[in-house]
Amino acid sequence: MQLQESTSYIQQRITDFAPAFGIILGTGLGALVNDLEIKYTIPYDEIPNFPVSTVESHSGKLIFGLLADKPVVVMQGRFHYYEGYSMEQVVFPVRVMKLLGVQKLIVSNAAGGLNPGFDTSDLMVITDHINLQPSNPLIGRNLDELGPRFPDMSDVYDEHLVREAMVIGEDLGIKLQEGVYVSVPGPMLETPAEYRYLSVIGADAVGMSTVPEVIAARHMAMPVFAVSVITDMCTPDRLKKVKLSDILEAAAIAEPRMTALIRELIRRS
Ligand code: HPA
Repeated sequence: MQLQESTSYIQQRITDFAPAFGIILGTGLGALVNDLEIKYTIPYDEIPNFPVSTVESHSGKLIFGLLADKPVVVMQGRFHYYEGYSMEQVVFPVRVMKLLGVQKLIVSNAAGGLNPGFDTSDLMVITDHINLQPSNPLIGRNLDELGPRFPDMSDVYDEHLVREAMVIGEDLGIKLQEGVYVSVPGPMLETPAEYRYLSVIGADAVGMSTVPEVIAARHMAMPVFAVSVITDMCTPDRLKKVKLSDILEAAAIAEPRMTALIRELIRRS
């Protein structure tokens, strides 16, 4: 099977290293790797069957190393459905992480703020999600060796990790919002009517990633922690034209706080 072949290849390259945490970094949130004591780096295009970035600049790689003395694997560069990948490709790395022995998944993303109590560059701990992607990675023949046909989704975001994060927020003086993340296909941002709709159906933040990977992780019973960086406010009174540079700027401001939170969460886990 393709997953097994990719896993075996990686295992050969990371002699004696067994990652316990998998980390997926969102747009503009890659600086966490500067905190890593890096042991191995494997570009995606060297791994058999791995999806390869077809677009522009971001060179994807898996980085293996120690964060707070714990063994982790970081995906530098993730795959989005809007780039033209299948859902199976989007979640392929998460499944490989599980086969490598990863026990917990930590995900970050950049998101638009729908909750009027939020501000740009806030961190929002994700407590639940709404999947508005046009497909999902579990459609098709069920991979019984990974998980059940109808996985439970009543407690997707690990309650213990959410609680621990809130304690860390208090301890480190990092303001943490909590809320529901809605995943949309993109790549366009939303119209004012769409933002209103997403807010009405119960979302606090909107973005174009995360939920497929989280669904695949929960299918495999992996505990998940996820955090959004609010890069732009989308409430009617604060909605304005958004450029990618604005999103990257807001992400850069929040980045050190997000990195501190994840590092501390891993230290205490
Ligand atoms: N919508 C969707 N995705 C996003 C947004 C948004 O407003 N901001 C950052 N990612």
